[in-house]
Amino acid sequence: MSGKLTVIVGPMYSGKTTELLSYMEIYKLGRKKTLLFKPALDVRYGTSVVKTHSGLEAQAVPVEFTKDMLPYLREKVDAVFIDEVQFFDKDLVKLVRKLLDENVNVFCAGLDMTFKQNPFETTMLLLALANEVTKKKAVCHVCGEYNATLTYKISDSDSEIDVGGKEKYIAVCRDCYNRLVGSTYGASSGGSDENR
Ligand code: ADP
Ligand code: TMP
Ligand code: MG
Ligand code: ZN
Repeated sequence: MSGKLTVIVGPMYSGKTTELLSYMEIYKLGRKKTLLFKPALDVRYGTSVVKTHSGLEAQAVPVEFTKDMLPYLREKVDAVFIDEVQFFDKDLVKLVRKLLDENVNVFCAGLDMTFKQNPFETTMLLLALANEVTKKKAVCHVCGEYNATLTYKISDSDSEIDVGGKEKYIAVCRDCYNRLVGSTYGASSGGSDENR
């Protein structure tokens, strides 16, 4: 039987990494073999650690490119977990397909969109391949409702690849996002390219 791909997406703070780690815990409780990868680029909490915004953490293999995962996959595992898939090259999709064909279950978590509402391509391709998709939401930083589907950048940098946390990004609902983008304060740091 082939493996299954589960993809968890949503804005920042929506619990993607928490859900990924809770799936991994189930495998660990069952004494199954697992591997957890993260992009080497994300050094927020140290190079070999995946950490949630609430403080849960797990040891992970940091890799720069998809091909760097290959040596770790020579030995058969039951499931592969990958956090922050938005930062990986598109070869990840090919590798995931191969793992599924080899009966390995794959769990991916990542941002669906940048703070400018542009889709992250690797995440988008994985969503197309997925057997199961979970789209999560966060609490809107502005209005306090549990309906934040977007991430808004509060720092000055315009870069869509920019590792960081609360000092740079907030989770917001669409109405609050549009209000922030429409305001003088927001005009420089949010909004999709089409709205510029
Ligand atoms: P993600 O990987 O999607 O960024 P995490 O799994 O790392 O999310 O963190 C989720 C945790 O973040 C929540 O359990 C909560 O403790 C915390 N958190 C901080 N800000 C928010 C917010 N605005 N909405 C929801 N959870 C938040
Ligand atoms: P998180 O979803 O686990 O909170 O982590 C998202 C990471 O992605 C975090 O390091 C910030 C980064 N990021 C970007 O590089 N570009 C973006 O447009 C957004 C929204 C986040
Ligand atoms: Mg995360
Ligand atoms: Zn809101």
